[in-house]
Amino acid sequence: MAFQSTKTLILATRNPGKVEEITSILSGLHLTVKSLLDYPNLPEVVEDGQTLEENALKKAREIFRATAVPALSDDTGLEVFYLGMKPGVFSARYAGENVSYADNNRKLLAELKNVPINERRAQFRCVAAFIGKGVERTTHGVCPGRLLDEVRGSGGFGYDPLFVPDGYEETFAQLPGNVKNSISHRAMAFGQMETIIAEYFTHF
Ligand code: IMP
Repeated sequence: MAFQSTKTLILATRNPGKVEEITSILSGLHLTVKSLLDYPNLPEVVEDGQTLEENALKKAREIFRATAVPALSDDTGLEVFYLGMKPGVFSARYAGENVSYADNNRKLLAELKNVPINERRAQFRCVAAFIGKGVERTTHGVCPGRLLDEVRGSGGFGYDPLFVPDGYEETFAQLPGNVKNSISHRAMAFGQMETIIAEYFTHF
């Protein structure tokens, strides 16, 4: 039977790709990690903030309020230098409301049509937020790289098939999950969160 710690944390997301990544990044803490996939009746948190930090804090605060379980969230954006750091906080709905990852990737490819490789620099920026009893903390992570002119690979999610992190020749969708989880924006932000969460659970 899988190990079940009495120390429980809830990830304020329904994105299975994020749940897998964050659970793997935090595995050293030996917590029971739940997510909104375990709470299908909780209402969707509206991500209407103007910054990644506002959205991350809003998601974790609302889920902590609704469940009383310490909550962890992230809000992530892809910043493309050629596009003035867009789509950023609007990355999920770059091609419109209720669009697929493939729609967003197609729109990005269209915006970067004929842009040479040396001008296709981009970075993922992640803000993680942790809300517990009397505690509100945020951490940040950035992963620099470049965008290809075609999708490659089937792993990961979102813009991963277009994004090649610095130091590699393959996209995040081609690289093994453990490589993404060791160098990504999310790995950086949640790596810093580990200490904060470990300290929190020494008190509760
Ligand atoms: P969210 O609001 O943090 O869920 O993320 C906004 C959008 O950014 C998502 O819909 C994805 O398209 C994209 N995104 C977030 N994290 C990643 C990642 O690790 N790789 C690729 N795309 C991502």
